[in-house]
Formats: sequence, C-alpha cells, structure tokens
Amino acid sequence: MMGTAAAAAAAAAASSCDRDDTRKKQITVVLLLIRTLLLACIIARRVVALIRLVCRVAVLAPARSLLGVAGVVFSAVNARCLWCLDQQALGRSCTGTFCGDLVVAAMANSWRLLVQGLTSLVFLCAHAAGEYVRPPPSPLVLTAHNKPASHPQQVHISIVREKNMRISWVTDDRTAPSVVEYGTSPGKYTASATGDHTTYRYFFYKSGAIHHATIGPLDLSTTYYYRCGKAGDEFTLRTPPARLPVEFVVIGDLGQTEWTASTLSHIGGGGDYDMLLLPGDLSYADTQQPLWDTFGRLVQPLASARPWMVTEGNHEIETLPVVEFAPFVAYNARWRMPHEESGSPSNLYYSFDAAGGAAHVVMLGSYTDYGEGSEQRAWLERDLAGVDRRRTPWLVALLHAPWYNTNEAHQGEGERMRRAMESLLYEARVDVVFAGHVHAYERFTRIYDNEADSRGPMYITIGDGGNREGLALKFIKGHKSAHLSDFREASFGHGRLRIVNETSAVWTWHRNDDQFTTVRDEVWLRSLAAVEPARTVSAVAGGGRPADEL
Ligand SMILES: [Fe+2]
Repeated sequence: MMGTAAAAAAAAAASSCDRDDTRKKQITVVLLLIRTLLLACIIARRVVALIRLVCRVAVLAPARSLLGVAGVVFSAVNARCLWCLDQQALGRSCTGTFCGDLVVAAMANSWRLLVQGLTSLVFLCAHAAGEYVRPPPSPLVLTAHNKPASHPQQVHISIVREKNMRISWVTDDRTAPSVVEYGTSPGKYTASATGDHTTYRYFFYKSGAIHHATIGPLDLSTTYYYRCGKAGDEFTLRTPPARLPVEFVVIGDLGQTEWTASTLSHIGGGGDYDMLLLPGDLSYADTQQPLWDTFGRLVQPLASARPWMVTEGNHEIETLPVVEFAPFVAYNARWRMPHEESGSPSNLYYSFDAAGGAAHVVMLGSYTDYGEGSEQRAWLERDLAGVDRRRTPWLVALLHAPWYNTNEAHQGEGERMRRAMESLLYEARVDVVFAGHVHAYERFTRIYDNEADSRGPMYITIGDGGNREGLALKFIKGHKSAHLSDFREASFGHGRLRIVNETSAVWTWHRNDDQFTTVRDEVWLRSLAAVEPARTVSAVAGGGRPADEL
C-alpha cells in the first residue's frame, strides 16, 4: 500500500512539473511574439520615414521647384501679355511695326482667352454645377493704366459715417503714401487724412497697394476736390444730402463688358444722383485677379464721384480647390465697407444711414451664415431694433440671391435665406428689397411668405448691369410666384430709387437698349413707417394686392 501511494505522489509531482514547463514555454512564446511585433513596428516606422525622406528629396522638392519655375514663367508671360493689351487699348505700338503689333496682339489676346477660359472652367466646375445655360458672352472692355506706378488708380469712395467718406485706391508702387488731400476748391487742399494700405496674394498674383483713408467731417451736399497719394489726377466728389430728397442708383451683376459700359454711360458721369447701391457680383474676375484692376479702372469715373455701397455676390467668393481656400480675399481687400461703424463683425454685411437718417440701408450677405444662431442674423436683429421709424421713414435692404424670382435662372437659390430672414424684414416693415444674381429685371408686388401683403417689402431684382455671362432670357410662365410679379423683362439697364419725402418715393427702371436713357418701368411707393407694427397685425390673415401705393 505504502509503495502504491509513493508512486502516485511521484506521478503527480512529475505531472505538475510538466504543466509548469508548458506554461513557461507559452509565456516565452508570447513574449517573443510581442518583441517581434514591437521590432516590426520600429522597422516599419523607420521604413516609412525613409520613404518620406526619399519622396521629399526625389519627388516633392523637384515638383516644388518645377511649380516655382512655372509660376515665374506664368507671371512673366501674363504680365507681358497684359502690358501688350494695355498698349493696344491705349493705341500704342508694342513693337514699332504694324505687322509686329498684329502678331503680338493676336498672341496676347490668345493668351488672355486661354487663361480666362481655363480659370472660368475651373471656377464653374467648382461652384456652378447645374448653372443656367446662358447666351454667348459679350467682349470684355479692358481699361489700361498708363501713368507712373505711384499714381493712384481704381479710385472709389464709400460712406463711413454721415459726414465721413472712405477714399480707396490702388498704386502699383507699394511704397506710395496712403494720404488724401482735399478741399472745396480745385487744387486748394485745406485738409488731409492718412489711412493705411493692404496687399494680397492670389495664386501667382500679387496685388498693388490697396489704400483706404477716411476723410471728414465733411459738409453735406458739397462738392470736394481731392488727390490721393500726393500724386496723379485730381478727383471730384459730392457728399450726400443732409435731408430728403435723396436718389439712389441701383445696379447689380455689373462686370466689365460692352454691356457694362453701356449701363455706366446711361447712368452718366454727370452725377444727377447721390449714391450708388450694388447688390453683388462686381468685376466677374472669377479668380483672374488682373480683372479686378481693370474693373476698378472702368468704374473709376463714376465710383470716384459718388459713394458706391456694395455687398457681395457669388462671383466675389473666388475659392478654388487645392490652391485657394479663403473666400472673398480680393473683395474684402478692395471694397472695404463700413461694417465696424454699423456694429457688424464682417465686411460681408453692414448698414448705413442716408439723408440725415431719413433712410436706413441694410446690406445683407447671401454667401455667409444667416441661419438661426448665426452672427449675421444676431447683427440684423440688433440693427433693425435700433431703427426708429418716426425718425427713419424709409428702410431699404439689399442682398444678392433673390428671394422671389420667376426666371428660369437661379431658381430657389435664395430660398434658405428667405426662410431664415424674411420675418425679420417683414416685422421691421422694410419698404423695398433689392437683389441681383438673375441677369434680368423683375419687380414684384409687396409680399410676405409667398403671399401678396401690403405690409411686406416690394421685391425688385436688378441683376442686369451687363456682365459677360449675358441675360437670363427665360421667365417661367406658370411659376407659383408669377401672379406676384408686376413687371419682368430680360434687358440690360439700371434702376433709380428717388425718395422724395417722408411718405413718398419713386422707383424707375432704365433700359439700355435705346440711345437715350428710357424709363421702361415706374412705380410710386408709400413708406411703411406708418403701418402698425407687425405683432399687432400678425393675427390678421391674408393680404391682397397692395392698396397703399400712390
Ligand atoms: Fe450672382
């Protein structure tokens, strides 16, 4: 018995020893696997780092160098071609021989068309899928700068406060001073103001110095003579009136074509108006930055004489995949508007007063946030709440993409913004809303939420300034808003809102087609300031046709 027990104990001890050995072997294998895995990770990281290094040295560095060389070559060719086009526009010879000029002009124009075509193609692919198909474009009107680099060009003015005006201009010389000298007699400058300048880069393009200087306080309804940067030409401006009447010219989607030139000539350099309002789409540079410069030169005769107050359109965005991510780079640098003075955090929306506060103009941004909780909406609520309609009988709003539109082009593009903001404008009793974007003229009755409502704004689309895309010719016959549309026509032109007194204003639309300015549409408006506040009438249903127009 004793022998059997001892043998069993020995067998158990041997079995336990085997299990220990097996466990040790398993632990050793696991440790080995972990070490192997760690080693593999370290090796993999080293290999990846080595591949990156090889890529950087063998691929990226040459690619960057190649891109750099391409950039320099492109800039040189582009600058030379633009210079040739400038000379051609000025009627000067580039080569000294007729045949040489013909060849050079052909090459320069081919280059311009190629670059414009490529950039436009990329722009359209990036931004305008499903865009309305338009008639063939009109030729561009390219304006040259034939003065020294320090001489101001692209001069335009804008209102800052009631008695202050911002003067903006560009010099090719980036060291030129940002000074404006001014006075009420030609050549006699009794005051001066110093501002600042900015520049920007866009792909291969670097802008000239873009100067902004604020002058004032100025006497109202007064002609001033001024000179920018202590060099170049003298300009003349007239300050807006201190009280009513006041007249606004309104043009949208301007561009720089022969159609644009026609519109500008119909507006006239004589200046029988006080201020110009532009609800977006200015230069149609569409990423080709020198076109911002030619646009500035084209509008200078008018924009240097009367304030141009603008808001942005889709053609000001100018983002491009891979190369340019920031929107509104050129627009914000060149067209600085009084957003800080009106409590707005963005140059893309702001407001200002005219005629001593008798009119308040709200410039909205269709291409920045406008929904519930957005900064623009919060600002708009504050801005409208600050308007006292006893002191300010006229309230006007501008934006780019129309909220009401029966044209085939851009159908529904303003709908999200309308849903987000229409009630604010309605409750504030805004008198009239101007929009652009659609390249035609259309005037609606007073509307609120897709119904005729005599307490709502009159909606007017005036996107027919003359850009290269041409007119939006097709209106939709059976459109759900067709019964609200009082006048519509696909022709180039401009509009004028003349606020006569506290209760009455007249809107006219002037078509370009004729040799002389022709009024094709006219309507009188009565201010909504005296109409009872929205909250007390919100329970009243319906609206009917506006009965309060004169
Ligand atoms: Fe547009």
